[in-house]
Amino acid sequence: MNMTLTSPQRAENIDGKAAARRLLAEVAAECRAFVDQGHHPTLAVVLVGDDPASQVYVRNKLRTAEEVGIRSLEYRFPANLSESELLATLDKLNLDPLVNGILVQLPLPRHINEQAILRAIDPLKDVDGFHPENVGGLVHGQAVLTPCTPAGCLRLLQDYCGDLSGKHAVVVGRSNIVGKPMAALLLKAHCSVTTLHSRSQDAAALAAQADILIAAVGQPEMIDASWIKPGAVVIDVGINRVTRANGSSRLVGDVDAASVSTVAAALTPVPGGVGPMTIACLMQNTLQATRLQTASAVLSHCG
Ligand code: GUN
Repeated sequence: MNMTLTSPQRAENIDGKAAARRLLAEVAAECRAFVDQGHHPTLAVVLVGDDPASQVYVRNKLRTAEEVGIRSLEYRFPANLSESELLATLDKLNLDPLVNGILVQLPLPRHINEQAILRAIDPLKDVDGFHPENVGGLVHGQAVLTPCTPAGCLRLLQDYCGDLSGKHAVVVGRSNIVGKPMAALLLKAHCSVTTLHSRSQDAAALAAQADILIAAVGQPEMIDASWIKPGAVVIDVGINRVTRANGSSRLVGDVDAASVSTVAAALTPVPGGVGPMTIACLMQNTLQATRLQTASAVLSHCG
């Protein structure tokens, strides 16, 4: 009997680290140009409390800022900081002409109203793109400061696929940080967009119609091959720490990579996919904020 053993198809790896390095090189060059003109782009990062994951994210953001030449200011407060004290800090940063970007790391302690804090950041300094004015501008298709994780996902998709026009994109998850702005960005890129969430019926069957699938649910390895159309491009936003039987831990995405890579054309790894792009887009937003403020200062000078 002549038996041929075929190994399962392995999806192409979409290298987020390499894409982030390319973007950061552009950012570093533009940052040097600002410094040569006498202004040092500056990012203020505010961390309240001692959430371990937030500490890691903030450390990575500050380290990357330093690498590309962006000046960073770090504001660390204990978890019992009052909302009014945090608002006072934001007022000061809003008024400081030397500060171009302001980021308040989320989540905040429960006694602080997150929406009130996000609304208090000057929209021109809102490098997270979470202020309602920027969220509204994004939905209207304007060139506003845009949330970093979905902006990074879009860039990876455009690098890999080229023009996204007419593709069917499915976004799994409807968070304010990722799912909703991701859907708005894909629509702006002329995709047909479906958003799935915990109340969606037949979610896997709907997802299996997607040319592009974005997984942003925060559930370790929830999405397997049954959710994927053969040849789809899959972006995994999840970063979940899971503990093995022997007590050690590892990071996994929202996608079951071993299963999905037998069907998909391409997949982002975890770690090393979306994560590095999120931070690179934050640096890019800091320079965009610097440009926006420079333009608005020139306009106000002209009366
Ligand atoms: N916490 C998790 N993701 C984010 C993010 O993109 N920005 C901020 N500020 N906090 C977060």
